[in-house]
Amino acid sequence: MNQEILKTALQDLPLGGFRYYEQVGSTNDIALNWIEEGGQDFSLVVANEQISGRGRSGRSWQTPPDSALALSLLLLPNSTETKNISYFTGLCALALVDALKALYNLKAEIKWPNDILIEEKKVAGILVEASWEGDKAKGIVLGIGVNILNTAVPNSNDLHFPASSLEEALGQKVDRTKTLHGILTALIKWRKVLGKAEMVAAWNENLAFRGKQVEVRREAGQVIRGALLGVNRDGSLHLDSAESIHFGDVHLRPIGL
Ligand code: ATP
Ligand code: BTN
Repeated sequence: MNQEILKTALQDLPLGGFRYYEQVGSTNDIALNWIEEGGQDFSLVVANEQISGRGRSGRSWQTPPDSALALSLLLLPNSTETKNISYFTGLCALALVDALKALYNLKAEIKWPNDILIEEKKVAGILVEASWEGDKAKGIVLGIGVNILNTAVPNSNDLHFPASSLEEALGQKVDRTKTLHGILTALIKWRKVLGKAEMVAAWNENLAFRGKQVEVRREAGQVIRGALLGVNRDGSLHLDSAESIHFGDVHLRPIGL
């Protein structure tokens, strides 16, 4: 993977702009700055390595060189998308599940709100951030990290949840460029139904731990246990013991893990 190979491979996609880095702090930071510099809708930032990649609440996301996909897509939301801004994490999750099925026939599932699992191991994570002007989002950034090779997977001591890679799940080589192309194609498709009932239905169909006993931990130490019933129409999580749990800083686990 390098700038020229990527440029050629992605030329059939309607990219607003494209920036590639061999090494970067966080692709999300580059994309957030690009919004301020006047970046166009559907502009893409890709890095071969991140040295300060991040997940939610400032937790770190590791992207060693040559082993993963680290991408951030800059979007300039229209007025309908602005109203539906909270659905963008689900949108990325659906696009990832869809792409992995279409490209490799892999069955991936969404660990609400922002992780992608294969056989109950995390292979990808999503971090959506926005640049605000008052209460209006000037632009949003869809940050996606995918473990392609096993060398992308952190040491188990550094993990809160078991992790794996696409190559391990598939048992064969995975091409990063082809994977990137598939993810972007799926994002274009799902963007058209952002926040619609069709999107929420697909989100539910691909949800991990449905019908199973789970616990949701909040940072404050509060734990809610119950059977996971699904995602509500507004994207919040529905347990039999709690009708609607919103994004915030929550950690979902199957009971026993
Ligand atoms: P969880 O439910 O596991 O707590 P989360 O989605 O709440 O996940 P995030 O902040 O989104 O947590 O993810 C960051 C966490 O992901 C890190 O604390 C680390 O445990 C784990 N992690 C970091 N890099 C990777 C990677 N390349 N692959 C899988 N997991 C990773
Ligand atoms: C998670 O922890 O589950 C979310 C991880 C999101 C990682 C991606 S990699 C590309 C982009 N840049 C970042 O710093 N984070 C996101």
